[in-house]
Amino acid sequence: MIDIHSHILFNIDDGAETLEDSVKLCRDAADNGVKLITATPHFFDYSHIRSFVSERNHKISVLREILDEEDIPISVAAGSELFLNDKVFSAGDLDALTINGSRYMLCEFPLGPFDIDRAPLWIDELISRGYTPIVAHPERYIEFHRNLYIIDELLDREVVFQVNIDSLTGKNGEEPQKMAVDMVMRKIALLIGSDAHDTEYRHTRLREKFKDLPEFIDERILLDCMDKNAKAILKNEEI
Ligand SMILES: [Fe+2]
Repeated sequence: MIDIHSHILFNIDDGAETLEDSVKLCRDAADNGVKLITATPHFFDYSHIRSFVSERNHKISVLREILDEEDIPISVAAGSELFLNDKVFSAGDLDALTINGSRYMLCEFPLGPFDIDRAPLWIDELISRGYTPIVAHPERYIEFHRNLYIIDELLDREVVFQVNIDSLTGKNGEEPQKMAVDMVMRKIALLIGSDAHDTEYRHTRLREKFKDLPEFIDERILLDCMDKNAKAILKNEEI
């Protein structure tokens, strides 16, 4: 299995705080059948792309070294979770922020209120730069729930949708669960990620979470979203 969305890197965003947390998140993921995890720290500061990338890469190297020393069987790939706003229009080269050097860019919208008319414009900007946007957890945005048409509007642009496992289990509430389940069952969302932030609450112990999934989300669906499709993303292939 592959976990395409996580905040396992220490002290770079609101995810793991220490290197020990990062190692535990990786160990738990490996114990739960994850062979590769993508580190996707939040990226907000468009004026400091290069320093963000060098800090991220350095922390991935440090983490990989410990994983190797401690024989924890998991690979770590680089990525980011790009926060979309009008600054994207004047941003410099974003290539280093994509998932594993592919054309796929994981991106997020504000969780709270924002002007929904801007959403397709930000996505179009990424597409015009040659990226294929992966929209992180569409089920968590209040504006997506208020403006359901936006899902189809973004689908027309061939974005990829990624839902959070915690939404599918209902941990994020009823409305996010309903939307996430519906998107997975209709094959509108093709990826599922942990979006892990810590070792206790939003963690990487996926098998524990699988037990809380609705029964009709069977192993075949999970393997498509957490293995086959995620592999294609990492290899820069069509999904
Ligand atoms: Fe995230």
